[in-house]
Amino acid sequence: MEPKRYLITAALPYANGPLHFGHIAGCYLPADIYVRYLRLKGKDVVFVGGSDEHGVPVTISAKKEGVTPQNVVDKYHNMMKNSFEEFGISYNIYARTTSKVHHELASDFFKTLYDKGAFTEQVSYQYYDEQENQFLADRYIEGTCPKCANEHAYGDQCEKCGTSLSPNDLINPKSKLSGNKPILKETKHWYLPLNDYTEWLREWVLKGHKNDWKPNVYGQCKSWIDSPEGLQPRAMTRDLDWGIPVPVKGAEGKVLYVWFDAPIGYISATKEYTPDWEKYWKDKETKLVHFIGKDNIVFHCIIFPVILKAHGDYIMPENVPANEFLNLEGEKFSTSRNWAAWLHEYLIDFKDKQDILRYVLCANAPESKDNDFTWKDFQARNNNELVAILGNFINRTLVLTHKYYEGKVPPVGNLQDYDKQVLAEMATYPDKIAHSIEQYRFREALSELMNLARLGNKYLADTEPWKLIKTDADRVKTIMNVSLQLSANLAILMEPFLPFSSNKLKNMLNLGNHIWDDAKRVDLLSTEHQINEASLLYDKVEDSEIEHQLNKLQATKDLIAKAALTIEAPKPEVTFDDFAKLDIRTGTIVAAERVPKTEKLLKLQVETGIDTRTVVSGIAEYYSPEKIIGQRVSILINLAPRKIKGIESQGMILMAENPEGKLTFILPDAEMLNGSVVR
Ligand code: 2FM
Ligand code: ZN
Repeated sequence: MEPKRYLITAALPYANGPLHFGHIAGCYLPADIYVRYLRLKGKDVVFVGGSDEHGVPVTISAKKEGVTPQNVVDKYHNMMKNSFEEFGISYNIYARTTSKVHHELASDFFKTLYDKGAFTEQVSYQYYDEQENQFLADRYIEGTCPKCANEHAYGDQCEKCGTSLSPNDLINPKSKLSGNKPILKETKHWYLPLNDYTEWLREWVLKGHKNDWKPNVYGQCKSWIDSPEGLQPRAMTRDLDWGIPVPVKGAEGKVLYVWFDAPIGYISATKEYTPDWEKYWKDKETKLVHFIGKDNIVFHCIIFPVILKAHGDYIMPENVPANEFLNLEGEKFSTSRNWAAWLHEYLIDFKDKQDILRYVLCANAPESKDNDFTWKDFQARNNNELVAILGNFINRTLVLTHKYYEGKVPPVGNLQDYDKQVLAEMATYPDKIAHSIEQYRFREALSELMNLARLGNKYLADTEPWKLIKTDADRVKTIMNVSLQLSANLAILMEPFLPFSSNKLKNMLNLGNHIWDDAKRVDLLSTEHQINEASLLYDKVEDSEIEHQLNKLQATKDLIAKAALTIEAPKPEVTFDDFAKLDIRTGTIVAAERVPKTEKLLKLQVETGIDTRTVVSGIAEYYSPEKIIGQRVSILINLAPRKIKGIESQGMILMAENPEGKLTFILPDAEMLNGSVVR
């Protein structure tokens, strides 16, 4: 049955960092394509989104940046809202979960569930920092991983070995706030007994959506619902001072769990957008679709539906098309490590070229498996596909129309079989592309769109109007008319994917507003219709632009590598007697020269208070011979002599070496006589 209206949501991103390409490919671009398509189909559709402004990630960013959580969410909310807008993500509203409307709605929601007895109360012991007077969220506890002995595992996960943990699993737990050992303290929370909904979930998800949910989504749901331990009650409240206060007695100092309030954000956003919000959420004839990334599946397919079910007034999502992850040049996107391609930077570096990125992220979307974004692929897809196929067809058509007819659409004349065949094929595209979009197969839809452009290119290449113009001007009129109709159809069908260039093309064609199904028509541009000046739809991306992006990533790589350098592990114990065997003295370098044909070695003469001796030392990268004459040093004098590059070295200068390999001298005080003993 045709739904009466659509409500489309895209995950609310945490307002603790900027948006990167992974976010966009994960859910925002597919949601936007879907919504733009529905609008062109003339559907009643509302597209909501907003910033997720509660939760521990925000408080952690605030601590790190030394500002308040409110400062953090204000900054990133505005940044994301602007980036979305500039990138053409066409929300009807982009809200935020710190708004008054949201706080009230989420609070009422909790109260309703509470009054219905939908929660169970449980007292448990949780870690508490006595110095800071607060319970510690999982991410605020650090300790040794019981699996791999990593000393910096978090209360919910060890990032080194990937094991998911609970705070009580950690050996030697420490508060990240004070560094102290936390105590276990009693605390009460309200739990949603997911286990009570197992049968309902089985019916609704496992039976009801076996065939229409994507296999990756269905599979994850199944493994949760059918897990051997079964679904467990999940706490919907937290001991935290940032969030929506729990609106019941005895819950002072507690806030709603961020995954309780965030999805309600979809509802409050709709409420902010229209007084008619209830029909979008409560009328069965609404089709609700959640676009998300795969890490959000359980929250949208199990927890939020159970919340809605427990409430009773709300509809369920019809689909939750989750994408897998996009990687960047072979590695996971990481905000904390700055391994990312940031949307706001792209919008500056590639000004007015939103559609290239939209094209690449859709053509390469991680729809059924993780995928990789590379800048070289970005360049190749632009130059070989957008420029060479779509842009080329449009450009040839428009340029010839200006050249032959001063920009006036020529009459169609007699259609030959080939023309009819091309027009008939053209008319199949709106349904073909629509079918793919409706199945959430956006890559396939985009590749069909490009096939239509290919059809146009082939038509021009086969009919060669630029040759025919000398011999059969009437035939050329027909060919150009067909090409112009094809261009107009492309302008309509490309809108969901490439809205900026679709607009540009519509302007160049001087084409009015059309709905999706108009793209079957062969008379979108009537004879004598005047088109506007033509300019290129897409430009080549130059090598230098790609190098610039790769250099930015290389700089990040260098930083990551540096951070990964660790202090050398301690050596095994030695006895005092072992140590006492070493004869270390203070001395002065009295002569120095480079050892020929080596990079690192200097030949030094060192006055040791006992003698002046030759020492070969690997410090040439850091010290030039001229500069170290007169340098005070500590020197090991009873090291057995060694031949280095043919020179006998009679001792060793003591140096400190940092993890990067940089060397400095271990200096005796100035007044120490040469020959003083170091012990
Ligand atoms: O994973 C995330 O970024 C979450 N902030 C998504 C929330 S989606 C919805 F429930 F609000
Ligand atoms: Zn571990």
